[in-house]
Amino acid sequence: MIGAAQDWLEARVPFDDAARQQSLPLLDRAAQALLDADPTGRTPLTVVDLGAGTGKSAAWFRQHLTPRLPGRSIHWLLVDAHEPSLEIATQHLADADTIVTRLSGLPTALANHLPEHPAPGTLLLTCSAVLDVLTQGDVEAILTTLTTYQGVGLFLLSITADWHLEPAHPRDPELAEAFADHQRRDGKLGAEGGQAMLRTAREHAVQTTHGNSAWHLSAPRDTEFTRRFLTERVAAAVEAAPELEDAALEWLETRNQQATDQLNVTVDHCDVLVDARRSR
Ligand SMILES: C[S@@+](CC[C@H](N)C(=O)[O-])C[C@H]1O[C@@H](n2cnc3c(N)ncnc32)[C@H](O)[C@@H]1O
Repeated sequence: MIGAAQDWLEARVPFDDAARQQSLPLLDRAAQALLDADPTGRTPLTVVDLGAGTGKSAAWFRQHLTPRLPGRSIHWLLVDAHEPSLEIATQHLADADTIVTRLSGLPTALANHLPEHPAPGTLLLTCSAVLDVLTQGDVEAILTTLTTYQGVGLFLLSITADWHLEPAHPRDPELAEAFADHQRRDGKLGAEGGQAMLRTAREHAVQTTHGNSAWHLSAPRDTEFTRRFLTERVAAAVEAAPELEDAALEWLETRNQQATDQLNVTVDHCDVLVDARRSR
């Protein structure tokens, strides 16, 4: 399915923003690479947010990137296969252009929006919470785009297989495994998304760096969000492993009670920086 529930994307914002504080060193490196490529700052930069959804990710990148590139003219492009989400995004990012396409079609779709031979380091591809919902073909298309245009890519908040719940419960690993299976449906990369990007970039002989940006959910502060998060995880896990339904619902009831006063959940994410400025 393409397109995420709008209220889920809205509910995630404070947790994504907090997690992306841990991504700032990678954002600094990306900004430095763009500055090094054009020290005068006179060449316009194009930033393309992939899987932009309702624009929350692009808003974060804009807020944090703009002060790191003072005076630079930046053209924002939002790409997603789900047109209704992009319509919402443009209500908040009115000056951004949008492209409705699957990411497998990115090189062709961008060709109409970018100069044929742009200077190296004048294209930045970004995303948040997207690599895990892509296929290897999508990742190849992103890398092809980066190497063709000698751009920089900063891909944040890709879910990994790791989550840690405190206190632990014997069924935690089994549910994590069923959830991971669900994320791999229809050929998606799931928890391998970040690693797949790193591996594919290295195969293209492109420089990479990576980092972590976990969500930290704590009772009693985050009771409501934790409950929603766990409920959605359980629904996905049961879809992948229906035989777990009874045990999973019992687990959820226990966890929902603990979420009021004692449950802490860490959800790990992988961040990837790809620098393809010297890739031709
Ligand atoms: C979890 S949402 C993240 C949205 C946004 N980046 C954010 O952080 O709020 C994933 C987004 O990726 C889009 N998406 C998933 N697979 C895609 C594909 N193959 N091509 C283009 N967009 C895709 C979905 O439509 C959805 O908007």
